[in-house]
Amino acid sequence: MYNNHKLLFALALCFFVALTMFVAIIPALDIQRNNAPLPGSRPLTKLETEGKIVFIAEGCIACHTQQVRNVDMDKVWGLRPGIAADYARNERMDVWRNTATLMGSERTGPDLTNIGNRQPSTVWHLMHLYNPRSVVAASVMPSYAWLFEVKDYNFPEDVTVNVPEEFRKGITGKIVASHRALALLAYLKSLKQVPLPGGKPAPIFLYAKNEAAAATNSPGKNTPAKPAYNGEALYATNCQTCHQGNGEGLLGAFPPLKGSKVVLNDNPEVQVTIIMQGYNGRVSEGYGIMPPVGTNNNLSPGEIAAIINHERGNWGNNSKKVTEEEVAKIIASLKKSK
Ligand code: HEC
Ligand code: HEC
Repeated sequence: MYNNHKLLFALALCFFVALTMFVAIIPALDIQRNNAPLPGSRPLTKLETEGKIVFIAEGCIACHTQQVRNVDMDKVWGLRPGIAADYARNERMDVWRNTATLMGSERTGPDLTNIGNRQPSTVWHLMHLYNPRSVVAASVMPSYAWLFEVKDYNFPEDVTVNVPEEFRKGITGKIVASHRALALLAYLKSLKQVPLPGGKPAPIFLYAKNEAAAATNSPGKNTPAKPAYNGEALYATNCQTCHQGNGEGLLGAFPPLKGSKVVLNDNPEVQVTIIMQGYNGRVSEGYGIMPPVGTNNNLSPGEIAAIINHERGNWGNNSKKVTEEEVAKIIASLKKSK
């Protein structure tokens, strides 16, 4: 063999090809076969794919991940930890280029795996992209104002953003979302975690210390200790991005809860309905649409009662407090009437 260079080369080549098959190609095909896209998922539309390219081009990946790890601290970003099948719809762009999965490694901002469910509001996303400080006062995210155009007149099909005065920097025209902004918006809204198909157990979030401790500290086996809900913290997580920490909302986008007739009404029925089913009754006044935040974020009656009581006892509001039982009753009747 050592005297015949052709044979030597042929043998080395065969060995190399066989090794590549076993360590790279067969395992890759196997992984692909075992991780079909989840039944609840769908491929990106044309506009969403354009948005994904804007997401890549604008460098959003530098600060945002798209992976929910199975550790307890990631619980806030998704319903369950991510699995390989969640990425199965990422197909090659062509023979030469793979498509970025955009899992990311830096989390300066929140994880975006499930942002389409967590934040479905068009108005919020566009104001946030134009200038993140207009909705989240302490945000360090850069402003993407170049994704918007300034026009003297807007056409009916234009999506105009009501940017608050202090963020307009002297711009007097209409601030209109460009095609690239709308594509990016469509992509962000498409980012949704889908449930695993019937009965398949999801991987668990690990190291859930608090729950284990709570379970062992509970008095009787059948009566788990009632968790104490922190209305202020729950408001900050679920409502503050839109209605703001001072309850004053934002002119032209999100109405104030300070002095709101709905909040001051002693009967909490409308308030609970708005939280669970969303609200669009005031669009003609220039406000956006409120998504069904309570349903999207899986808020329990106890949590909703705590949020409502926070709103009822702050910013000068002073209306009757509600109990968990009252809220549970209203939610049950909403489900029945559906
Ligand atoms: C320098 C880091 C940085 C970059 C780059 C960046 N972001 Fe952010 N992003 C943040 C931070 C910090 C927050 C949290 C504060 C806030 O809501 O503004 C955030 C929040 C968000 C949120 C709200 C998430 C939530 O859970 O409420 C969205 C959506 C978002 N960013 C999208 C984008 C998009 C799209 C891009 C690219 C066009 C981008 N970000 C680029 C840092 C960044
Ligand atoms: C994505 C932004 C957003 C989030 C998050 C949000 N809201 Fe709203 N909310 C709105 C908008 C927009 C309206 C006005 C809807 C309309 O035009 O009819 C509204 C209206 C309301 C109203 C009626 C106010 C009135 O006087 O008419 C109440 C009460 C309310 N929200 C409570 C809450 C609570 C409680 C939370 C948190 C659990 C919450 N909202 C989270 C955007 C939001």
